[in-house]
Amino acid sequence: MRIGILTGGGDVPGLNAAIRAVFRRALEHGHQVLAIKDGYRGLIEGDIEPLTKEMVSEILNVGGTILGTSRTNPLKREGGIEKCLQSVDEFGLDALVTIGGDDTLSVAYELHKRGVPIVGIPKTMDNDVCGTDQCIGFDTAVTRVTEALDNLRTTARSHNRVFVLEVMGRDAGWVATVGGMAGGADFIAIPEVPSSLDEVCEHVERRWEEGDYFSLIVASEGAHIEGLPSRKVEDVDEFGHKRLVERGLGPHLAKQIEARTGKTARCVVLGHIQRGGSPTPFDRILATRMGVQAVDMIEEGKFGRMAAFKGGKIVPVELERVTGCTREVDLDLYRLTQIFC
Ligand code: F6P
Repeated sequence: MRIGILTGGGDVPGLNAAIRAVFRRALEHGHQVLAIKDGYRGLIEGDIEPLTKEMVSEILNVGGTILGTSRTNPLKREGGIEKCLQSVDEFGLDALVTIGGDDTLSVAYELHKRGVPIVGIPKTMDNDVCGTDQCIGFDTAVTRVTEALDNLRTTARSHNRVFVLEVMGRDAGWVATVGGMAGGADFIAIPEVPSSLDEVCEHVERRWEEGDYFSLIVASEGAHIEGLPSRKVEDVDEFGHKRLVERGLGPHLAKQIEARTGKTARCVVLGHIQRGGSPTPFDRILATRMGVQAVDMIEEGKFGRMAAFKGGKIVPVELERVTGCTREVDLDLYRLTQIFC
């Protein structure tokens, strides 16, 4: 078989581990793998070349994606889907592996409905893909947040300061919740649970009253904090998403806390550091297992499915059940963080 592979959406560490796993499993079974460049851009434009052993060697521990990525949406491009179908024919692709978040997987589902033999692998540091307990990249992002909080804690204590750490997370606060929990944050603001400026300021005042003369607050870029002024963001990408970091939620929050409580407050926007560098062992292993499963699904003709992580096992889940939905934070888990706030 000739198997095409692409990575779409924001990059995360662990993508290369998945690409390597697909290649190695495919090779073991005598299949050829073709690299589709920059997500769906490469499929639309036919920018496709054979993936070689040299290309995938020594990439297990390397962040980013050797295939390149983009947020190209074939459904928004003139004749985009037809051009994708044409490339599948032209390059003689017997199957496709698409690695991405909800956007990439939604397009995969669309292509599946048009008869393309396709399987998906979930990746996004946001961890909000439905049908899987975890996505590639999440564990590494949580590790970056934890490290950042460990580092901020010492300077916050030394200066008796409030630190606001703004992390990524558009519609789901997984990174803030789990990273905040691991790093001992004392207030966590996420999109799923609205909070207010009054609440945050009262929390800070209370810490000082109780003799804790510093505070570590984690806020998702997409959190809703009533009473907090934030910039309006107009620009959207091809999937209709705004760059929420431009709202300036973290910097606004730090400023308002300082103005209202009189405590010195600083903001750190962690940004793309959460998506950079080497993947954690967990992400390498998750990606490896998913990559192998993707090829096995192809061999078994289980198309239109995603290699999902469920209860510790990698299992096929229908793309139909995955797309167009956001997996929100488990509120029991969020409530658990409140014990330490
Ligand atoms: O892919 C998800 C994500 O990491 C979001 O959490 C974040 O809002 C967005 O990507 C950032 O996008 P970009 O890489 O285009 O700045």
